[in-house]
Amino acid sequence: MNVLLLGSGGREHALAWKMAQSPLLDKLYIAPGNAGTAQVGINLPISATAFDEVKKAVKQYDINLVVVGPEDPLVQGVHDFFLADDELKTIPVIGPQKYAATLEGSKEFAKNFMNRHNIPTAKHFTVTAENLAEGFDFLAQQTAPYVLKADGLAAGKGVLILNDLSEAKSELENMLNGKFGAASKTVVIEECLKGIEMSVFVLTDGESYVLLPEAKDYKRIGEHDTGLNTGGMGAVSPVPFADKKLMDRVEKEIIQPTIKGLKEDNIPYCGFIFFGLMNDNGTPKVIEYNVRMGDPETEVVIPRIKSDLLKLFVAAANKTLSNEKIEINPNSATTVMMVSGGYPEAYEKGKVITFDEEFSDSTVFHAGTKLENGEVKTSGGRVLAVTSLGENKDAALKISYKNIAKIHFDKMYFRRDIGQDL
Ligand code: AMP
Ligand code: GLY
Repeated sequence: MNVLLLGSGGREHALAWKMAQSPLLDKLYIAPGNAGTAQVGINLPISATAFDEVKKAVKQYDINLVVVGPEDPLVQGVHDFFLADDELKTIPVIGPQKYAATLEGSKEFAKNFMNRHNIPTAKHFTVTAENLAEGFDFLAQQTAPYVLKADGLAAGKGVLILNDLSEAKSELENMLNGKFGAASKTVVIEECLKGIEMSVFVLTDGESYVLLPEAKDYKRIGEHDTGLNTGGMGAVSPVPFADKKLMDRVEKEIIQPTIKGLKEDNIPYCGFIFFGLMNDNGTPKVIEYNVRMGDPETEVVIPRIKSDLLKLFVAAANKTLSNEKIEINPNSATTVMMVSGGYPEAYEKGKVITFDEEFSDSTVFHAGTKLENGEVKTSGGRVLAVTSLGENKDAALKISYKNIAKIHFDKMYFRRDIGQDL
């Protein structure tokens, strides 16, 4: 079969790398892809949100299945676009329809869904310009730190965590006044959860699901979790504290009620669900839903899956996931993200990436790269994710760091403490 994957990051390179190993695959196309996806498939110069061009490519390349990597095309309704088109409607799309994608696209929608289905999450109050006074009251009832979230998508930047009540009040006003554009015209104030975060993933057909390996990512730019938030600076899987007891609770109290809730609400769902969780001493609570895989979590989750991912996608599309088993490598996977100096603020692009020598004990997933005149150059803040497997996280990390020393580009930066808090 021929597959089209939408997206261009490290997550997409990892998904492409895995699908390329499937005996079910004939040709793999990636739109738009990066220099890494070009090693395992054919890049098409099409934006993941240019639906008319995606349609042309699907017809031209005889595509049998579409896999959506990032949230933007999902929230903009790429799946619905296929269903509404006579020529496309029989082509399965892995990724939920627009309404279901609101689980990620609107924090308030997600909170209401969780409350309706008794899924444990932080208490919240939703504020707009109309009920600001009540918002101030709710804030005053919380204890510091104060959590303010833009309701809509804000490129991962829409959450503020503030220690001071008066600062929280003024930031609440700033948000309502457009600090994050239209995304923060509505703000969700949340109780601050305590504990340690982890990411859990399933692939679901809306009826059944397979549980993928869990992961922990490292969001801050600086070592020991300091400095600005980023898209993610590294990840490890498995997560040492995610023992059977905790994971059983996650399945019973969070995953199963979510799948059941989608069914009860008549929300079809074919694709990944990413549960951002807080583990408070063995009690898991949902911080957020995402309707896609995480990045860089995918770069450690996918290498631990032994099963044929494309076969799982076909089963998800056919609603036969309940017949599938997923086989997981018990070893640890770790990834360390190499980023452009300055990221997540301003940074330069177009730096040539060189390797002192080839190595086979790590897989280098490209996040922000492009091929230009035969040279691989940086084209984003997050550039390369260097993934290794080992008997435990420390063994895997050692390999990643050894190989990072062989990779060079001007002003590169990476965290040396990935996995060290666990
Ligand atoms: P979100 O975009 O909802 O994942 O929030 C971004 C980050 O803010 C999360 O990964 C957490 O580190 C933090 N965060 C969000 N909500 C809460 C909460 N209710 N309590 C504590 N931390 C939170
Ligand atoms: N690494 C977190 C995310 O993909 O949202």
